[in-house]
Amino acid sequence: MNGENIVLGVTGGIAAYKSAELVRRLRDAGADVRVVMTRGARAFVAPLTFQAVSGNPVHTELLDDKAEAGMGHIELARWAGRVVVAPATADFIARLAHGLADDLLSTLCLATTAPLIVAPAMNQQMWSHPATQDNCRLLEERGVRIIGPESGSQACGDTGPGRMTEPSDLVAALMTPPGAALADRHVVVTAGPTYEDIDPVRFIGNRSSGRMGFAVAAAAAAAGARVSMVAGPVRLPTPPGVERTDVRGAVEMRDTVMRVVRGADLFFGVAAVADYRPRQQAGQKLKKGPDRQHLDLVSNPDIIAEVAALEDGPMTVGFAAETEQLEQHAREKLSAKRLDMIAANRVGRAGTGFESEQNEILLLWPGGERHLGKGSKRQLARSLVSAAADRLRDRESIETRTDQDSRPASG
Ligand code: PMT
Repeated sequence: MNGENIVLGVTGGIAAYKSAELVRRLRDAGADVRVVMTRGARAFVAPLTFQAVSGNPVHTELLDDKAEAGMGHIELARWAGRVVVAPATADFIARLAHGLADDLLSTLCLATTAPLIVAPAMNQQMWSHPATQDNCRLLEERGVRIIGPESGSQACGDTGPGRMTEPSDLVAALMTPPGAALADRHVVVTAGPTYEDIDPVRFIGNRSSGRMGFAVAAAAAAAGARVSMVAGPVRLPTPPGVERTDVRGAVEMRDTVMRVVRGADLFFGVAAVADYRPRQQAGQKLKKGPDRQHLDLVSNPDIIAEVAALEDGPMTVGFAAETEQLEQHAREKLSAKRLDMIAANRVGRAGTGFESEQNEILLLWPGGERHLGKGSKRQLARSLVSAAADRLRDRESIETRTDQDSRPASG
């Protein structure tokens, strides 16, 4: 964003307080930021806050001769390289969709030729209202980029979609070209092993280092996605732009995945999840006993199969770690778990699979396959993410065509 001129429009929602952090992050990324506040926004945050964080005067009035003499609204509209409205209320989105120009921000949005980006924030019911949804669709058809909103607990006490996208994610999205393969997508990745505790000092684990999963998360973020990564116990740095949650056992991994996967577009199950865990976890270190010991194990949840079974769930891409009959076993997993794709990799030999920096992947889907070849996990992750993004697009265009075909003909 080096030297880019950004006009940040702030409208009247509780999320306005987050916009001060957004200004800071935009400036850190190299942008020059000028803030335009609506009257509603000023009820939540004082203009002085934005003046201090942006280092520029804040613009508030359309009909103010002093302000117009400084930098008039047309000049400001021309100055902008991009106009970002965050938070954008339901009211502002409606006024923008209908071309109203009764205050500085709405007028500027009509007067500018700069790309317009809107980050909605409102109560979940207001977001789901057909009027808001229609207004957003109309804006998107006109080329406005809508980022978010996210789901979660809201200031009003409700839970659901309507939270403004976090400033760090907004900046990451703004730094990604709109045409990037996964721009504006939400991707969830599991990575690393799971540890199934036997007692306070012993566990059942595996050799997964997390490298493959972290590389997939990094590649998805670089392709423009908002990435949530659920990682088992590994010591790797979090890739830039990735939101990481650390877990230990399979049950904790499943619960976390189910929480973050709602509304996601794409799920990559790269974690080496233990199929079993001890029925009971001893509260104290087990003492040495007779020569033979038995561990009573119970099945763990199959995380990716649960994600694949979700109604309106994301496209699912699994991994199959096989020591023999790679393609056959991988195809069995693809169909048994009802996945959309599976990346088959051979494990149990040096230089590929677990722990290694390198891997070799055969990508399979119902009725098709592609050998991604041998290479570094980073390279392979980029090829995998790009292949999955292509398939996601194909899947969505087939769904759209099916929807259109099943609609009754009018007249
Ligand atoms: O971490 P690295 O050292 O880089 O190694 C990478 C890797 C070898 C771990 C990775 O490339 C890989 O193959 N990951 C999947 C390992 C695995 O558990 O495979 P699986 O064949 O047992 O499982 C098939 C699929 O089901 C996987 O997507 C797995 O995440 C998922 N699964 C399995 C069991 C379970 N209880 N829940 C699941 O979601």
